[in-house]
Amino acid sequence: MSARDKKLELEGLTVSFDGFKALNNLTLSVDPGELLCIIGPNGAGKTTMMDVVTGKTRPDSGTARFGSGNNLLEMSEAEIVAAGVGRKFQKPTVFERLTVFENLELALAGTRSVLKTLRARISPEQDNRINEVLGTIGLSGRRFELGSTLAHGQKQWLEIGMLLMQDPELLLVDEPVAGMTPQEIERTSELLLSLAGEHSVVVVEHDMNFVRSIARRVIVLHEGRVIAEGDMDKVQGDPKVIEVYLGV
Ligand SMILES: Nc1ncnc2c1ncn2[C@@H]1O[C@H](COP(=O)(O)OP(=O)(O)OP(=O)(O)O)[C@@H](O)[C@H]1O
Ligand SMILES: [Mg+2]
Repeated sequence: MSARDKKLELEGLTVSFDGFKALNNLTLSVDPGELLCIIGPNGAGKTTMMDVVTGKTRPDSGTARFGSGNNLLEMSEAEIVAAGVGRKFQKPTVFERLTVFENLELALAGTRSVLKTLRARISPEQDNRINEVLGTIGLSGRRFELGSTLAHGQKQWLEIGMLLMQDPELLLVDEPVAGMTPQEIERTSELLLSLAGEHSVVVVEHDMNFVRSIARRVIVLHEGRVIAEGDMDKVQGDPKVIEVYLGV
């Protein structure tokens, strides 16, 4: 495993959709191993920021770097994944008719075909890695159960586990606790906290109690740019933030 030293640096990013600026000169950075929370009202540009980092959307201007060697704006989505950026979408995409273990096995394979992967024998190292991830996501006891039998929260954790199989240096997580029970939310806090340090983690979420439970540094986006930054108490007490977001 290479050293975990890649800093994410976004500078002056602007993204326009029909003249509307979803990102407007956005500048922010994420240190290696940092857990960063990004909050802000609907339409603030949070998801668009992740789209730029993962190569799904190209900005009109600005720069996006991941470590010294990776200019994200010149890389394909696959190259960005290979450079160590993993993204979890809101809707879980686990395979319902495969077991928990098989889902992780597939994620290990990357681009190989489903059948080929499931028929191939996995190495002891791969078996260890799957078991390790099962422990991390708290699903060791469910390894032989079908994806379809999992509760909503368990599916979300399995999806995070599938991302972890590629051992990404940076994890982008968009609204992870939407639809979860309070117990599931608490378990998700623990999981994301346990991933920080070994991974950089960027979490976008509207649930303020959840954000408070994991927050170190918090960035508030509004109209495509950063309007406040600091710890949770600082941003929650910021008059600009109260006006555009938390005061409603
Ligand atoms: N592909 C697109 N085409 C046109 N407009 C878009 C596109 N993607 C996003 N937008 C617009 O850009 C703005 C920012 O959207 P974005 O999804 O980044 O916000 P968000 O901060 O993630 O909001 P939410 O909290 O609701 O998820 C919104 O006004 C949205 O309608
Ligand atoms: Mg969004």
